[in-house]
Amino acid sequence: MAENRILIVDFGGQYNQLIARRVRECGVYSEIRGYESIDLNGIREFDPKGIIFTGGPQSAYGENAPSIDDGIFELGVPILGICYGAQLMAYRLGGKIESAPTSEYGRTEVVVDGREGILRTADDINVCWMSHTDYISVPPEGFDVTAHTDDCPVAAMEDRSRGFYAVQFHPEVNHTEHGAEFIRNFVLDVCRCDQDWQMDSFADSQIAAVREKVGNGKVLLALSGGVDSSVVAALLAKAIGPQLTCVFVDHGLMRKNEADEVSSIFGKEGQFDLNFVRVDAAERFYARLAGATEPERKRKIIGEEFIRVFEEESKKIGAVDFLAQGTIYPDIIESGLGKSAVIKSHHNVGGLPDYVDFKEIIEPLRMLFKDEVRQLGRELGLPEYLVSRQPFPGPGLGVRIIGDVTAEKVRIVQDADAIYREEIDKAGLAGEISQYYAALTNMQTVGVMGDFRTYDHAIALRAVITSDFMTATAAEIPWDVLQRVMTRIVNEVEHVNRVFYDLTSKPPGTVELE
Ligand code: XMP
Repeated sequence: MAENRILIVDFGGQYNQLIARRVRECGVYSEIRGYESIDLNGIREFDPKGIIFTGGPQSAYGENAPSIDDGIFELGVPILGICYGAQLMAYRLGGKIESAPTSEYGRTEVVVDGREGILRTADDINVCWMSHTDYISVPPEGFDVTAHTDDCPVAAMEDRSRGFYAVQFHPEVNHTEHGAEFIRNFVLDVCRCDQDWQMDSFADSQIAAVREKVGNGKVLLALSGGVDSSVVAALLAKAIGPQLTCVFVDHGLMRKNEADEVSSIFGKEGQFDLNFVRVDAAERFYARLAGATEPERKRKIIGEEFIRVFEEESKKIGAVDFLAQGTIYPDIIESGLGKSAVIKSHHNVGGLPDYVDFKEIIEPLRMLFKDEVRQLGRELGLPEYLVSRQPFPGPGLGVRIIGDVTAEKVRIVQDADAIYREEIDKAGLAGEISQYYAALTNMQTVGVMGDFRTYDHAIALRAVITSDFMTATAAEIPWDVLQRVMTRIVNEVEHVNRVFYDLTSKPPGTVELE
């Protein structure tokens, strides 16, 4: 594990994950800890080279305001305060915080007054992202004001002799010009971190750690073919090879050719030395789904059947020592920092741990962000099409076929979706769209093909742009691309005579149709 670490003390800001990512993008490891969950001893144990205080919704002078032991300022460790973190630093060190006569929100012109510290790479007028109602009216003794705005006298301040830096704006968001550089200047110049957080060294240290933990034990992994579980499989294969068994349940609801692709990477003819069990369970899933039209019921059936199949297979394997899971850092952060890490049954394979006989869980990706998982996958030799795969819901095409699911409908939606993906790729749009797919509506409409009347299925195309999948907007795909996709789908996919494009944002829509 990297020796150079930055501790991010979380005071409840909205962009905290971004701060951690920006630090890691500098090649330096960072972790987020809730302000209540870490004390001075914990900080010493963590042994950070630098500390960042995040933003937060409260007032630093308010009753029950989130705070931290003042001893943190005596540790001799550089600190960067952001937004609330800046105000907290100012307040605890004797400055003055007040409710600002004018709140600042959004892009704001910041006038830079001093470049000796972390703002050395700033423009004279640097557009920054602001979001605050309080401000620092008087900085503590020893601090220079290094930036201001029309409405905020202390937009940045520094006490370079003690290594304390504070910015009222958010350097971690893209809207702040040079923001990533300010964080970099803090991490590399002020904290003097070595850039020892790289995915190749992470792979080496995790492989060693897994070997030590697992010993001669047996490990079981439910491999879905998604990015996370595939990277876990590749990592564990390198670490413990034949002690690993991957169970891949093909529920018949994957995208076209996907099940075969997963098998060719991880199966006998693939590059990894592991035990790979492919269960062709499509018929079972279709049988159970027959006649089910209500979305939640369909999800439940798919989840339950998955567990049943997985349980049957794991019984054949016998008791295992470890169950491996593809939990990643955002899953942990979202399930509540500071509390003991919840063993999360991945929503793809809901409830799994209750049903399988194992002693312990291993989650080798639990400290990684998604882009780091992809990078690690590349390091481990996984093909690009797999590591850059867009998100795919656990219930698969089951939630992209409105109404009841049949083998014939799966075939239709797979073929239409493959055409859509191919054309988006060809148009060079794949990297710009967060998620896109074809779905099958439960509608048949009248059309004309040749001289004949048709009464066939309608396909819906969906494409969204989003950074967090909580909100999303429909992507503006060029008309000629949509036209090409439409023409190919109605010509090439039997029993489709109409194509719709879904314009709905989230909210009120969701990304998936069911
Ligand atoms: P929604 O439809 O909720 O989707 O707007 C947001 C994101 O989550 C994915 N999704 C799922 N992922 N299991 C998953 O692993 C699921 O049951 C599931 N349902 C939705 C969806 O593809 C999108 O990326």
